[in-house]
Order: sequence, then structure tokens, then C-alpha cells
Amino acid sequence: MQERIAQLRQQLQLAGHHYHVLDEPQIPDAEYDRLFRELQSLEADHPQWITPDSPTQRVGAQPMTSFTSVAHKVPMLSIHTETDITAEGAIQFDTRVRKVLQLSAQDPPLTYVAELKFDGLAISLIYKDHVLLQACTRGDGQSGEDVTHNIRTIGQIPLRLPQSAPANLEVRGEVYMRRDDFESLNERQRQRIAQGVKNEKTFVNPRNAAAGAVRQLDPKIAAQRPLSFFAYSLHFHASADAVLSPVQATLNGLHSYGSHFHILMALKDWGFPVSEHCQLVTGAQGLIAYHQHIAQARDQLPFDIDGVVYKVNQISLQSELGMVSREPRWAVAHKYPAQEEMTTVLAIEVQVGRTGKLTPVAKLAPVFVGGVTVTNATLHNEDEARRKDVRVGDRVVVRRAGDVIPEVVSVLLDKRDHAAPAFSMPRHCPVCNSPAVREEGEADFRCTGGLFCSAQRKQAILHFAQRRAVEIEDLGDKLVDQLVDAGWVKTLPDLYRLTRDQLIGLDRMAEKSANNLLQSLENSKQTTLPRFVYGLGIRHVGEATAKDLAKHFGSLQAIMDASIEQLLTVNDVGPVVAHSLRTFFDQANNREVVQQLRDGGVHWEEFEPGARLDLPLSGHTYVITGTLPTLSREQAQVLLEQAGAKVAGSVSKKTTAVVAGEAAGSKLDKAIALGVPVLDEAALLALTRYP
Ligand code: IVH
Repeated sequence: MQERIAQLRQQLQLAGHHYHVLDEPQIPDAEYDRLFRELQSLEADHPQWITPDSPTQRVGAQPMTSFTSVAHKVPMLSIHTETDITAEGAIQFDTRVRKVLQLSAQDPPLTYVAELKFDGLAISLIYKDHVLLQACTRGDGQSGEDVTHNIRTIGQIPLRLPQSAPANLEVRGEVYMRRDDFESLNERQRQRIAQGVKNEKTFVNPRNAAAGAVRQLDPKIAAQRPLSFFAYSLHFHASADAVLSPVQATLNGLHSYGSHFHILMALKDWGFPVSEHCQLVTGAQGLIAYHQHIAQARDQLPFDIDGVVYKVNQISLQSELGMVSREPRWAVAHKYPAQEEMTTVLAIEVQVGRTGKLTPVAKLAPVFVGGVTVTNATLHNEDEARRKDVRVGDRVVVRRAGDVIPEVVSVLLDKRDHAAPAFSMPRHCPVCNSPAVREEGEADFRCTGGLFCSAQRKQAILHFAQRRAVEIEDLGDKLVDQLVDAGWVKTLPDLYRLTRDQLIGLDRMAEKSANNLLQSLENSKQTTLPRFVYGLGIRHVGEATAKDLAKHFGSLQAIMDASIEQLLTVNDVGPVVAHSLRTFFDQANNREVVQQLRDGGVHWEEFEPGARLDLPLSGHTYVITGTLPTLSREQAQVLLEQAGAKVAGSVSKKTTAVVAGEAAGSKLDKAIALGVPVLDEAALLALTRYP
């Protein structure tokens, strides 16, 4: 037990040094938190083994020696983190607060301020006679580093306060980097590295980049780093060197701000950036609603957050609640599931996509990240895989944010204890062995096997069968693997030649499922022109382009015969798409595939070009969000499109209306914010049921 404690302390110390002092995180935050909690709980069980140098006994790391150390007049506290990441966390905080305040169930709910927990670094700003005098980092909470020279370069931070503000005060808040700023900074860094500029590096994440900028010794460099700031607290000067927290200042009759929200509004008035997501909420229910709302909005925010913060609004109540072990009892951080985790690379495989694109994929030891278990992460392409230098056996940081495909962010190089070779892209397709080529100016290698390559064939079939194309229900990837491997399906039309006897012979295929599949194939024959064109899987022809083409030309023959010039007159069709279409239809075997599909019974309605422009909803755009009571989204979309409407993926001022079902999220919020009408399923049905 004592051994484990010693080991944890050593690990945490090392990780803390990397994170706080060197700005080069060694392990993901979630891993650090876990080790920290384990140590905390062991020490709680065995208090006799606590030593003053344990990482649990201090906040943060010592300041770097190259900066002047500054003692904080009021310690920069940390906030207690609610461990339960479900809605329970909010209830537990509210319950605890009410208990300390000796409130009963009959007493009214408390008012809280709910804020974002910005993922940057805490900074204290001292103003004297309305002028910014000093800015310092949090350091170990008692003293930090003087970084005034760098902070002054942040345009968002006022250098002088208006006369309406008290002359002497301390403002605290978070310095952070927006995600888009971070991306462009890294892009610039990559260019510099490519140009051979010495000592340049790219950054792991926006927080790391912000911390690095604030700790620059040269303010000229800091000034080139795009930093932002949000203010979240205010402290008062009692005399030349005494600074008081709002609670202490209230007790001294120094100010008239009765609530934290009031303080935030004052900060905003004085010119500090205050997040628009700060919200006054009521009781545990208000906290839960905020937590859920922000969870939805998280990926659309222009910057990273790792949770939300709840604060008791009334300063007098904050005063009553006081502190426990250097953490205020009136505030708590409620985190979201980590979007980054650490795991091991078991293998690197190369996958072949529908258009022959070869993608290196890291096979991972299963890891729970961003709310799901992840076993694969994309390495994008050869350059990316090499840049990150991912090798089999490496410990890596994996990120999964929102619905984005999980990716390997970085390799923990100091954990590498093997001699696996660097990754290189095979020069032949791993599936069909055709040469793999990388065209001039492209990042991707492609298999040149075309439909000779069984991997491309499988993907092409799955693409044709998907719901948005001709929709062949029950035709999943396992089945396609078997059909292609058995040599029964070489081209799309072969699908419609499958027999019951063939199917029944397949793995896990009973008579009933064989019948189902045959029925699904039959059903898929009746389709629409845009779905069919999209289903052919022509490079660069997505769903929207297929629809535009169908609308413009009215028939497949017209699309197949269109010249480049004619194609270019179609909405949103540029030279790349036009060429791709021509190349596809110039190939005799592709025309043959189309003909055979038609001969096999695949059909759709054709119409005179432009004839559909006078439908009841022509020229209108709808957005569908949430789960509708009876219709699937695809069905709702078909109804709207048949009535002539366009269905878009995001809400704007131009959206005619949003059709919202259960658990509608940010799109609904946006519609309400923009004043776009909101319809339910019943209204949709009424709208599309035209004579
Ligand atoms: S208030 C007594 N509000 O979280 C409360 N902190 O452990 C003092 N943080 O490193 C902090 N967003 O930099 C507060 N809206 C917010 C915050 C926030 C991020 C950081 C802060 C500190 C840590 C607190």
C-alpha cells in the first residue's frame, strides 16, 4: 500500500512538472485525475502516510525560476470537482449547499450562476489607479509568475479601466485560445518547421498552446500567439496592499455587489470579456438543465471547455458557506466525459475506401473516450501518420469529440520502449495488390484496382445499398463480404441476380432472412433519380449534387450525355465534378452497369427538366431535428422533397421552418434564437399532404 502511494506521488509529480512547468502534457488530463483521485482516497484511508510534499497537498507546481515570483494577496483557490458526471453531480452540490445553510425542503430553491469551465489557464490582473499594473499566473495558488509583459499583448484585456470602475482592484479569469486560432497557429508552425526554422514545434491542444504563449520570456513571440480572455471574478483593495475577496469585502462594507451575477455584469461594463453563457439558474433543476444544454452545445463552441462551474449567487450566502481544505464550498466544477484518453496501438492497418483511397487506421486497445468505447482511430494519411510518428506498441492520446471520427492526437514518445519501425504506406493495395499511387499534390494514396479490387467493390455495393441511395435493407457489411468473397457479386447488377438457394447457403442465413433480403432487393428497385445517381458512387458526386443534376436534367440519359459545358451550368457543379461525371459515363463498363441495373428492374420517375419547380414548397428550405413520433428522418425528408422543398442540415435565417421532434438540440435552439418557425410532425404531414 505504502509502495503504491509512493509510486502514485512520483507519477503525479512527473506528470505535473510536464504539464505545469514544461507545458508539454505527458498524459491526458483524465488519466492524471484518476491517479490523483486514487492517491487522495488512499491518503484519506491512511492519513498517517500523508507527507507535506504529496501532490495532493499543494495546488499546481512551483513557478519557473526564470520568471519573477509574485505572492497572491488572496490565494488563488481551486474548485472542488464533482466526481459524478451524470446529472446527479448537480443534485449532490445543491443538496450539500442546502444542508450547510440548514435549509429545509420547504425553503425556496437557491439561485446559482452557472458558467463554462474554460480550458485555459487562470490569470490574475491587478489594476492600480485604473491602470493594469501586474498580471500573474496561478502557480501553486499562493504565488505565481509575473507574466505582465505577455498578458499586456492580449487585445481583449483592458489596459485602463473606465472611471465608473473602482480605481484599485484585482480581476481573475481564464486566458485561452480559440480552436480556429489554434488551428491557424499550428498551420503556421508547420510551415515554419518546413522552412527549416529552428526550435519551432506544433502544439498538442489549445490549452497547451495558450500556456506556452503566456510563459514566453519574449513578449514579441507571445504577441504573435492569438490569445483570448474571459473574466470570472473580482477582488477588492482595502488598502495599498490588502486585497479582499468579494466575501471579505462585503464584510468590510467595501462594495455594494450583492451577487456574483451582479459582479459579472459590472466586469462586462468595465470592458472585460465575460462569456455570454454565464446564466442565472434556479435550484438543482436549473443546474441540470444548464449542464445538459451545454453538453449539447459543447462541440459548437469556438473554444474548448472541460465542464461547467456552478456558483452560489448571493455573496452573503457564499460568506456563510465558507471553505473546506482550500476550496470554497459555494462553488463546484461539474465535468463532462473526457474527449481525450490514453491507450496502446495494437496494429496499424490500411483500409481501402470506395474510391480506392488508402487510409491508415490504428487498431487500439479498447478505451472509453467521448462517451463510447473506441477501438479504431484514423491516422488520415501517410504524411499525418509520419508527422505524428505513430508506431505499433506506442502509447498514444486518442481524441473523440462529438460525432467526429476518433483520431490519434499524439504519441507519448517517452513511453516508447520498443523498436518498431516507422509507418510507411504500402506501395500496393493491401487487398488486391494493384499498385497504389499518390497523385501529384494529393495527400492520399489510391489503389488503382478500381472495381477489380474487392475492397472497393464491397464499399461500392454498401454505398449503393445505403438508406440515402437505393436503400437495400438487411444488406450489411458482413453479408456483402460473403457475397463478394464467394464471387457472386462482381458488379452492382449481380445483386439483382442472387437466388434464394445461393443465399440460404451463406453463413448465418436462414430461409427467413434470405426471403427478407430478396424482398428488400425487390423494394429497392423502385427508387428516385437522385438516389440512383448518388448510389452509383461517382467521385465528388454527393447527395446534394445528385439532386441538383436530377433536377436540372430530368432524366438519366440526359445526365449521361451532358457535355462538360452543359454540366457546368448546373448549380454548384464545378470543373472537378463535371470531369468526374464525364470520366465515369465515358467508361463503357459503367454505362453497361447502368443498363443492366435498368434491365434488372431498377426504375424511377423521370420528368421534363425544371418541371418540378412549381411544387407547393419549391424554393423553401426545411431542417429536420430530433426524433419524430412516427416518421424516420429519411421519410420526413422524402415528404418534404416530394413537395418541392429543400432539406438542409443547418439552420440559418433563410430556413423556412425547423421540423423538431423529441430530444431536439442545438438546431432547435438556433431556430428559436433566429425566430425561425418550428413545426411538429403533425404540422409537417399537413403541410406535405397536398392534392
Ligand atoms: S472560479 C473559487 N470560474 O478552474 C473559484 N474557475 O479550479 C475560483 N476555471 O484553474 C475559480 N473556468 O482557471 C472559475 N468559470 C470559471 C472557470 C474557472 C475555468 C478554472 C480556473 C482554475 C480552475 C479552478
